[in-house]
Order: sequence, then C-alpha cells, then structure tokens
Amino acid sequence: MKLACSLAFLVTLVTLVRYAIAAEWNFVQNGTSGILALEAVFVSPTLAIFFDRASNDPLVINDAPAWGALWNMETNTATALSVISDSFCASGGFLSNGTMVSVGGNIPIVSAATDGRMGIRVFEPCADPIGLNCTLFEDPETLHLEETRWYPSSLRIFDGSLMVVGGIHEDTPFYNTDPVNNFEFFPSKDGGVPRPSAFLERSLPANLFPRVFALPDGTVLMIANNQTIIYDIEKNTETMLPDIPNGVRVTNPLDGSATLLPLSPPDFIPEVLVCGGSSTNDQIQPKDLSSQDPASAQCSRMTLTPEGIKKGWEVEEMLEPRIMPELLLLPNGQVLIINGGQTGYAAFGSVKDPVGNASNADHPVFTPSLYTPEAPLGKRISNEGMPTTDIARLYHSVASLTPQGNILIAGSNPNRLVVNGTKFGTEFRVEYLNPPFMSLERPVMANVPAKIAFNTPFIIDVSIPRDLEASNIQVALMDLGFSSHAFHSSSRLVFMTAELSPNRTQLTILSPPNNRVYPPGPAYDILIDGVNAKAYIFLTIDGVTSAGAPVIVGNGLPPPVADQGVPL
Ligand SMILES: *[C@@H]1O[C@H](CO)[C@@H](O)[C@H](O)[C@H]1NC(C)=O
Ligand SMILES: *[C@@H]1O[C@H](CO)[C@@H](O)[C@H](O)[C@H]1NC(C)=O
Ligand SMILES: *[C@@H]1O[C@H](CO)[C@@H](O)[C@H](O)[C@H]1NC(C)=O
Ligand SMILES: *[C@@H]1O[C@H](CO)[C@@H](O)[C@H](O)[C@H]1NC(C)=O
Ligand SMILES: *[C@@H]1O[C@H](CO)[C@@H](O)[C@H](O)[C@H]1NC(C)=O
Ligand SMILES: *[C@@H]1O[C@H](CO)[C@@H](O)[C@H](O)[C@H]1NC(C)=O
Ligand SMILES: *[C@@H]1O[C@H](CO)[C@@H](O)[C@H](O)[C@H]1NC(C)=O
Repeated sequence: MKLACSLAFLVTLVTLVRYAIAAEWNFVQNGTSGILALEAVFVSPTLAIFFDRASNDPLVINDAPAWGALWNMETNTATALSVISDSFCASGGFLSNGTMVSVGGNIPIVSAATDGRMGIRVFEPCADPIGLNCTLFEDPETLHLEETRWYPSSLRIFDGSLMVVGGIHEDTPFYNTDPVNNFEFFPSKDGGVPRPSAFLERSLPANLFPRVFALPDGTVLMIANNQTIIYDIEKNTETMLPDIPNGVRVTNPLDGSATLLPLSPPDFIPEVLVCGGSSTNDQIQPKDLSSQDPASAQCSRMTLTPEGIKKGWEVEEMLEPRIMPELLLLPNGQVLIINGGQTGYAAFGSVKDPVGNASNADHPVFTPSLYTPEAPLGKRISNEGMPTTDIARLYHSVASLTPQGNILIAGSNPNRLVVNGTKFGTEFRVEYLNPPFMSLERPVMANVPAKIAFNTPFIIDVSIPRDLEASNIQVALMDLGFSSHAFHSSSRLVFMTAELSPNRTQLTILSPPNNRVYPPGPAYDILIDGVNAKAYIFLTIDGVTSAGAPVIVGNGLPPPVADQGVPL
C-alpha cells in the first residue's frame, strides 16, 4: 500500500517535472534570413516578407544582392523576392481586400534599385504555401506616393485604406531635418493632395515613424516625440492630449514603442501603452550624444476616453531601460516587451562614441518581459520564467507574432551596410521565442469561415485537449502588424465574445460590431484564393493558445469601403 502510494506519487512527480520542463518559454535559433530583416510582415500563414535596403546582402537575385525575401516558417529558409525600388526604412500594411502594400523607402546606394521614396509595392494575397508565383508588383512611373517619404508610418483606417504618415524627404543622419509634415492615403483621397499636419510640425525633430493607431470610433491616435493627439480624419481636426510625462520621447531616433491594448466587448474602450525611448533633450546635436547615455525605462498608459484623458498618463517602470523595444500583443491579451538596448539611440554612426562598426546603441537587453494589462499598477511587468538569448537585437531588427502563435525575431544592423566580424555586425540568425503552449497539446479550430461580416455570430468547430477545463475561453481577432523600426503598424487585438457548446465541440462567436472597432480586411475572393493574410483568429483556453486561423473581416472589397455593422 505504502509502496503503491509512493509509486503513484513518483509517477505524478515525474509527470509534473516533465510538464514543467516541456512547458516553458524558450528561444530556438533556426535558419538565416538571407538578407538583413529590417522590416517584416506575415503575408500568409506560412510566409513572411523581409525587406532590407539595396545593399550587399548575401542572398542573390538576378546575379546581384537581393533586398527582399520570402521567409518560409515551415522550412526556416529565405527565398529572394524581386523588388524594384529601394525599400530602406519603409512601412506598410494590409488593405480591406487583403492586399499588402509597402510604402516609402530611400534613394539607393547601389545601382540595382530605383529611388524608393515614393514607393508603392503591392503584394496580392498569396495562396501558395511556399509562395510560388507570389510576386511584388511595382510600377514606379504610374503607381507612387504623392511625396517622397523615408521613415513614414502607415495605418489601415476604418474604410480599409492605408494612411501614410510623415517621414523625411532626404537622407539625413539623425534628426528629422527635412520633414514631410503631412500625410496622404492609399488609395488616394482629397484629389491626391497630402493633408498638412500641424502635429508633425510641432513634434520635430525626433518624430520619425510616428506611432499611429486607429481608435474604435474611427479617429486616429498619433504619438510623436513626447506629444500626443487624436486626429479626426472625417473632420480634419486635431485634439491635443497630455505629453508623455518626464520628458520621455518615443519616436525615431529616440525610439520607444507603443501599442493599443486589446479591445474588449462590450465597450471596446481604447487604452494605449508606450514604453522605452529616451528622455534626452532633442536639441542636443548627435555628436554630443553617447552610445552610453541611459535609455528610458518608463511605460506610460492612458485610457482614451474624456475621463481617461483628464486623468492623464499612468506611469510605471520596466525592469530595465530600453531604446528600440518592440511591444507585441499576444493572443491572451498580454504584451511582450522584447529587443532593444539599455543605452544610446537608434540610427547609426552619429554619436561621438559608436560601438563596433557604427552602433549608436549599446548594452542589448537579452531577456524579454511580459506586461499584464489587468494587473495592478507596479505589478504589471515581469520576466519571471522568461528565457535569455545571446543574440543582440538593436537597430534594424524586427519581431512579430507568427500565425502559429509563437514569436519570430530577426535582424539587427546598426551599420550602413552588411558588416561582419565586428561587435553588433549584421545579424542574419532568425530566432523564435516559444510560449509554453507551443510544447503542449493545443486547442484546434476547424471550419472557420474565410470571411466574417461585422456584428454577426458565427460558429466554428473546436477540439479542446481533455486536460483543459475550458473555464477561461478567449477568442482574439488579430492583425499581426508590419514591423519596422520598433513599431508594428496596424497591429491590433479585438476580443470577441464566445460561447462553448456543452459538449465542447462548437464555439459561437460574435464578430466585432463595426469596421471602426476592427478596420476591415481581405478579399471576398478568399474562397477562391484559399488563403489570405490580414486577420487571424486565435483561441486561448485556460492559457493555452491555438494556432491562428486566417479570415477576412468585412465585405472584402477594395478600399474605400462603406461603414458596416452597427455603431458602438
Ligand atoms: C557576412 O556574413 C554572411 C553570413 O555568414 C555571409 O553570407 C556574407 O557573405 C558576409 N558578408 C560580408 C560582406 O562579409
Ligand atoms: C529547424 O527547422 C527545420 C525546418 O522546419 C526543422 O526540421 C528543424 O527541426 C528545426 N531545428 C530546430 C533546432 O528547431
Ligand atoms: C505558377 O505559374 C506557372 C506559369 O504561369 C503555372 O504553370 C503554375 O501552375 C503556377 N503555380 C502556382 C502554384 O500558382
Ligand atoms: C515635451 O517636450 C517639449 C520640448 O522639448 C518640452 O518643452 C515639454 O516640457 C515636454 N513635456 C513634458 C511633459 O515633459
Ligand atoms: C564600417 O564598415 C565599413 C564597411 O565594411 C567600413 O568601410 C568602415 O571603415 C567601417 N567603420 C569602422 C569605424 O569600423
Ligand atoms: C455538440 O453540440 C452542438 C450544439 O448543441 C451540436 O450542434 C453538435 O451536433 C454536438 N456535437 C456532437 C458531436 O455531439
Ligand atoms: C486591392 O485593392 C488595391 C487598391 O485598389 C488594388 O491595387 C489590388 O489589386 C486589390 N487586390 C485585390 C486582390 O483585389
């Protein structure tokens, strides 16, 4: 009896230990990116596009170095993608019909590329799992932006178009000294005349890659330097919000990052989180700055309702300062804080004491943290149980949630060209950060409709592992965003109410109320194409997350689309 008990205990213990060993966060390095992954966007459940500048990358196309690549998550290999114009420091996002558009870029330093500053690069929905016949379309003569834009941001808005915000006209080494103080749309509005922005003018000179977000009422939150506004696209008005406290600046070259926190039914109250950056005075010239200047550890959060704005920013500290952190929404509603350095600045070769070949930043942070939005102030940030990598991810690195539910991390090149054999040389190693659920049996969704209308219930089949009680069911509708310069343009998480059938095989889910809560996505011919790219549904049951299922939200028509669903 005694022996039997101990044996049972031992078996339980062994099972528990095995469970504990398997179910941990871990980093896995697998494959190399072929080109420097300076921008990243998932364009299908298996494929991401990486962009670099036209430079001296090892991956070859047409007998010359490539500056675009398709990353295959199933084989962990990169294939060269033909790009015409220079995509250096561009941005991008998806339209309402599922097409991905990359915008802006730079004047090339090698002759293989054309001037990319007015670049519009169109990638239609790609059905083939390995990307056969999936190409980037460019016609610089007839299809281009209205302004030359290097370092712009972009955002999908309520009518499914992209808003392209700010940037700089010419190559300058650090601050925005030749600003594009306006924004435009793709497809164009206002007869193609860009709209001037007083906000962009006020927030100079550290306002590149403005952090911009679509709020659930259709207005746009804009953060640049230490300033914040709400811009109303329909009325063309600005409302000024409180500055980020304590002189902290968060846009390039003083990059912090920012994200909208998950939006939840029934009210979808928007809150924004801004972390890292620098409290350095933006009037100091770069030659007087040091790679050893401490970055900011501050996270600031504000609720974007009249009462919330009156209350202002709520401040807490990360476990370490970070310049160029990435903030990634996770399907369970937490925010991953990853990458960046503890000292210095973004850009390269501009401070008085660059590290390695040209890094303006130093002391990379090797351990990610998790931010838990609903935890009490001061207890929201933790790195307990998080693994540590030994790969620095400084300037020109990327991170993205993958359609599988884990995190892809690539890039880092605080240098002008591809440079090897020096501290903070060009980083080609691709890494995944795996949440504990990647090594557990996970929920599986089936018969997810390819297209979902707004404010409409739909039913999916689910298979839930036996050992999960299913006491906490979360269904997340997500845009994984376009990662460039420590910011994920258009990244979004909207939770949907869901009810599980008593026999645990079906979920009845209610889609978001309208196209302002979730700006509408991919093509109505998705059933023909089979695959689309823009929105993913993730199911998290008792903390265990499924792989994402691709859907198109809305009518799938090309932008601009009409309002759909019901008002909030
Ligand atoms: C840098 O390293 C990569 C990966 O090891 C290699 O393919 C490439 O040729 C090297 N480039 C230069 C400029 O040395
Ligand atoms: C790396 O990826 C390949 C292709 O998916 C896979 O076969 C291999 O097991 C992976 N290696 C590691 C260490 O995960
Ligand atoms: C790719 O294009 C070729 C030539 O047009 C065609 O024969 C082939 O079926 C296409 N493959 C896919 C996967 O679309
Ligand atoms: C924001 O920056 C401006 C310009 O440097 C400065 O005057 C202002 O005091 C800052 N705001 C806060 C709240 O620190
Ligand atoms: C940085 O690398 C480039 C390209 O290899 C080289 O020309 C330059 O001299 C290097 N600069 C320093 C400071 O090492
Ligand atoms: C489970 O319940 C749903 C909803 O009541 C029902 O439609 C479905 O047929 C049931 N499935 C099985 C396998 O019993
Ligand atoms: C989506 O809309 C854009 C802009 O009108 C257009 O360029 C693209 O071809 C469309 N794609 C599809 C699949 O309809």
